[in-house]
Order: sequence, then C-alpha cells, then structure tokens
Amino acid sequence: MTLKKTVVMVGMMGAGKTAVGTALARALAVPFVDSDEEIVRAADRSIAEIFARDGEAFFRARETEVIARLLRGAPCILSTGGGAYLAEANRKLIHEAGISVWLRADLELLWQRVRHKTTRPLLRTSNPRETLRGLYDARLPFYQMADLLVDSSADLSVEDMAQRVVDA
Ligand code: S3P
Repeated sequence: MTLKKTVVMVGMMGAGKTAVGTALARALAVPFVDSDEEIVRAADRSIAEIFARDGEAFFRARETEVIARLLRGAPCILSTGGGAYLAEANRKLIHEAGISVWLRADLELLWQRVRHKTTRPLLRTSNPRETLRGLYDARLPFYQMADLLVDSSADLSVEDMAQRVVDA
C-alpha cells in the first residue's frame, strides 16, 4: 500500500495515538512523527516546562507550526497531542493535506492509562479524573469531525489496532 497523504492521529490523551501510530508506520513502512516530540526537541524542554514557562498559547502556536511543516512534507504517520484537533486552523491544514483518524477510547480506559502519569500539565488539578471528563465531553464534537473513526480497544495489540486503521 502506498501512502498518498499523511495520516494524522487525533484523539484524547491516553487513546494510544503514539503507540498505534508507531505500529501503523511500521506496517506501512513510512516515517512516524509525534508532534509533541517535535515541539519538545525544538524547545529543548518538556511539555510540562513549556506550559509552565511559556504558557499554553505558546505551546499551541508551536503545535500548529509543526503540523503545517509536516503536512508539507512526504506522507507519514503524524500523531498529534490531544488538543491539536480543537483548533480550526489545525483542522483546516489537516483536511487540506492529510487524513485524520480519531482514535476513540472510553473515558474509563483513558483514565486508567493517564492516572499514574504526571507528565500532562492539563491534568495537574485537584481532581484530575473530573478534569479528564470535562476535556472529554468538551472535545468529542471536535473529534467527531475527523475523516475516520477507529475504536481503541484495551484487548487488542497495537499491531491489531494499526490494522484497524488500515481497514478503516
Ligand atoms: C494535550 C495532550 C498532550 C500534550 C499536551 C496537551 C491536550 O498530548 O500535547 O499535554 O491538550 O490534550 P497527548 O495527547 O499525546 O497526551
């Protein structure tokens, strides 16, 4: 299978965008890029540090730059941060030059995956479970605009999940 457009993985934190995207890139023999990693590398500090020192707006601006740059290049698998698909500018870029895949996962599965990780600045609240629920509810209408929907299942391997994306 020859990839004609960049496949952009979107969805909540903990949905498995990076893990499934990596397996998908391997299966299709194309490069894998994670927008968070690109931002961290360029800024030379962690996402948490970027949020704390420069603010979320700075992070979002870098996120749009990375997405735009990658969509101009050769087709790849691009995993984006959970908030990337909310911005209209990003959705426009993705729809024009790529194909978006919403990796949907139940709130409970997401919570089980993110609850012990302290790296996500948006969940550093007094009640991270409720914060995650709030983000989930607010973001669903945006994710629903993606070109393809693939359900994430805790029972499937990342390779099987990648196959689901190929099938979709
Ligand atoms: C964010 C998700 C994170 C990262 C940043 C903001 C979000 O990426 O981009 O912490 O707004 O949901 P993951 O979805 O890869 O965790």
